[in-house]
Amino acid sequence: MSTSHKDIIILGIESSCDDTSAAILQNGNILANIIAGQQVHVDYGGVVPELASRAHQQNIIPVVDKALKEAGVSKEELTAIAFTRGPGLLGSLLVGTSFAKSLALALQLPMVEVNHMQAHVLAHFIKEKDGSGTSPGFPFICLTVSGGHTQIVLVRDYLDMEVVGETIDDAAGEAFDKVAKIMGFPYPGGPLVDRHAKEGNPTAFSFTHPKVDGYNYSFSGLKTGFLYFLRKEVQANANFVEEHKNDICASIQHTIVSILLRKLERAMQDFGVTEVAIAGGVSANSGLREAITALGQQKGWKVHIPKFEYCTDNAAMIAITGHYKFLQHDFAEQDLVPMARMKI
Ligand code: KG4
Ligand code: ZN
Repeated sequence: MSTSHKDIIILGIESSCDDTSAAILQNGNILANIIAGQQVHVDYGGVVPELASRAHQQNIIPVVDKALKEAGVSKEELTAIAFTRGPGLLGSLLVGTSFAKSLALALQLPMVEVNHMQAHVLAHFIKEKDGSGTSPGFPFICLTVSGGHTQIVLVRDYLDMEVVGETIDDAAGEAFDKVAKIMGFPYPGGPLVDRHAKEGNPTAFSFTHPKVDGYNYSFSGLKTGFLYFLRKEVQANANFVEEHKNDICASIQHTIVSILLRKLERAMQDFGVTEVAIAGGVSANSGLREAITALGQQKGWKVHIPKFEYCTDNAAMIAITGHYKFLQHDFAEQDLVPMARMKI
């Protein structure tokens, strides 16, 4: 890749949960986005923090090295290093943060700290290598739905965001993963529910919607309701799950998506916004993608759906956030510490 001294070349590092990722952006255009997942958690039915931290330590150097090689950029050509400061698992965040600090110190580069949730939203501004790509116009509303968060975010500018609604208990991704676990699917079960739902009837079974104030969400009641529903059905027919797998998945997915869109629709209307985006792991869900596209057509909204590789955790979104913060000269100091909880 040819670079000039005027280029802004950002190395992004993400290590907040169970994916180790490094990405290179040149003036906002993606040159590389390498992601190493972690298989060690599958047997435990969820992410084990200590194992995640150890796996990050093993993966971080090879992942960064691979990103630089794929981008054709030498570390001396980097302009700045952006890294996830939080929110996330502390042991995981420590690996990325410490690595970013040491590399910045060795190369004498500025560092930029990134909020993971802000980065999920800004993933919509990553451009292709040739500079192509369509991004939302301000203001827009972003529904960020991941394994740890569910938020309705009013986005006024790149770095001017307000969370106007969020879950008061479980996240949407957690709801997907928990119902999947109850059905006996391996972790993370969200993508499997999606796959089975494609073959099923979304109105075969119905589940109660929660009653929560404002633009907030709740998913813990749905999980409990689902558990009691299955228990009752399995008592009557031991093969119930096996015989109705697709319909169960389609129905629960339809319920989660309807809950998400009902509040989103209200927020869009109340804030008078006409552009909407989805972000986070659950934005990969085909039911959500189809439903928001249809709702957008009906309401006259411009709908922005991210590419699959930018839905789940990735460092490209960290690098693009780093790019915009770099432009504002918003740099991090060497004494900075990661934060497990961090507000947008
Ligand atoms: O954003 P993400 O990679 O990590 C967090 O920051 O949490 O999101 C992971 C979550 C998991 O709960 C996973 O089951 C869910 O996103 N997910 C899906 C799909 N793909 C990923 N849920 C439903 N349908 C999918 N296709
Ligand atoms: Zn995430």
